[in-house]
Amino acid sequence: MSTYRSSNWFGKKDKMGFIYRSWMKNQGFPEDLFDGRPVIGICNTWSELTPCNAHLRDIAEVVKRGVYEAGGFPVEFPIMSLGETLLKPTAMLFRNLASMDAEESIRGNPVDGVVLLTGCDKTTPSTLMGAASVDLPTIVVPGGPMLNGRFQGQQIGSGTHVWKFADEMKKGSMTPKDYLFAESCMSRSAGHCMTMGTASTMGCMVESLGMTLSGAAAIPAVDSRKKVLAHLSGRRIVEMVKEDLKMSKILTRQAFENAIKVNAAVGGSTNFIIHLTAIAGRIGVELNLEDFDKLGSRIPLLLNLMPSGKYLMEDFYYAGGLPVIINELKEHLHMDAITVTGKSHAENITDTCSCYNRDVIYPMEQPMIPEAGTAVLKGNLALNGCVIKPSAATPALMQHRGRAVVFETIEDYHARIDDPALDIDETCVMVLKRVGPVGYPGMPEVGNMALPKKLLDKGITDMVRISDGRMSGTAYGTVVLHVSPESAIGGNLALVENGDFIELDVAGRRLHLDVPDEVLQQRRQRWEKDAQLMNRGYVSLYVNHVLQADKGADFDFLVGGSGSEVSRDSH
Ligand code: FES
Ligand code: MG
Repeated sequence: MSTYRSSNWFGKKDKMGFIYRSWMKNQGFPEDLFDGRPVIGICNTWSELTPCNAHLRDIAEVVKRGVYEAGGFPVEFPIMSLGETLLKPTAMLFRNLASMDAEESIRGNPVDGVVLLTGCDKTTPSTLMGAASVDLPTIVVPGGPMLNGRFQGQQIGSGTHVWKFADEMKKGSMTPKDYLFAESCMSRSAGHCMTMGTASTMGCMVESLGMTLSGAAAIPAVDSRKKVLAHLSGRRIVEMVKEDLKMSKILTRQAFENAIKVNAAVGGSTNFIIHLTAIAGRIGVELNLEDFDKLGSRIPLLLNLMPSGKYLMEDFYYAGGLPVIINELKEHLHMDAITVTGKSHAENITDTCSCYNRDVIYPMEQPMIPEAGTAVLKGNLALNGCVIKPSAATPALMQHRGRAVVFETIEDYHARIDDPALDIDETCVMVLKRVGPVGYPGMPEVGNMALPKKLLDKGITDMVRISDGRMSGTAYGTVVLHVSPESAIGGNLALVENGDFIELDVAGRRLHLDVPDEVLQQRRQRWEKDAQLMNRGYVSLYVNHVLQADKGADFDFLVGGSGSEVSRDSH
């Protein structure tokens, strides 16, 4: 038997060996589990406060079956779990914190391989970032989407319909009673958002990166085949340890290029860009904002899911799931990239890529939209770039010049947006400041600002909106996001004033503030940085170390990895 890193704990013959084994034995583990077999850490993001991941305790038990069966020793541990819906001010503020928890929990413990149990948006990137900085053999079991929402005879999607219903309530076309009823119709099983929001996007991301068994992303959380996936992943991670198939062997530049292209084809969330960039930074793969445009923007949209289309994740699974998309894209992907199976995508999909519903997954020859990936724009309003998701935007607004209506903070927006006296019409450009990584802090999903009531009443459904914040992957609209550098650190976004004209030209990849340089210069001299809101604790660490959105909003000191070596003992 080879010697694995866990033998630095359980294999010791001295006093330390006694300590490392004895306390573990209080859980009733028999002697032979400490014989040098692969120890598999099951990194669980289970929490009742992260409803999307609340079923992962059960899934962990199933993973253990597979680990035992393959001759491994499974040990489950919790890390900080980030739920999108409850955690204030935004789960994104804590993504890097959770990644540190994952990293140190993995490195500091006697594990040879890791299974990441993920679900809700940030639980995927945070665990991947942390695991990548340790670089052990690692496999992801995505928790899977909820069953489709069903409300009064129609399919409703997580998030996407919240925005719709909120607008309808505002207009008075939905009753408070129906609104309340819709809550339980939307979220009716375990799992994460079943639209192509960020969680589904992250599921597709890990599968296309090669970090899951083939077909993992679309399986609904409560489908028995999710348990089969968990069981098989448990078996597989033991083999991966024996093969020393580390993350860095899978997460190559090719894998990242594949993920970018697949994300375009599924109409994935704009949050994908920030998370993938941060993961690449941890594993040492060069990836910049331009790569997303260069590689992804010409890829067609193939998947007809909300918010870009009409179906939901359950439909995606029944139509064949991500292997069908990968197969459709095969001319564009590195099909020889190695995955956790030890085989390439090409080898993985051979018997799993039949499509059963062409209204859900379109063929390459007849895509839903010919060019769908996220566009990266630059200009004097975003010197380091910003992004827009064309598949969620209104085609007529993609080339637009409009008068800026500026909101200095999110509170300012809430206070004035429905004021009948607000000087705004549908040709205006709504600008929101101080919602970037430093400004909020934590870069919340508020970029898709709801339109003013008086314009909704007129039947207006979309307007150009610009901010340094993010947008929920379930949201839609002509929304320019992730403006870098952000307003709070003095990016030109900070200098926009009411009445300025802004030009959006998606085809030309340009976002331009039509104000002469001299005027901007004068405004810059008057501009003052806000006082730091918090001077202690994690938030203080965050605002002082967070990188801008175009760099993945990781902490400057977390980029890269420290490997899995720990030379010193605990006593
Ligand atoms: Fe958890 Fe959407 S709120 S995935
Ligand atoms: Mg979200």
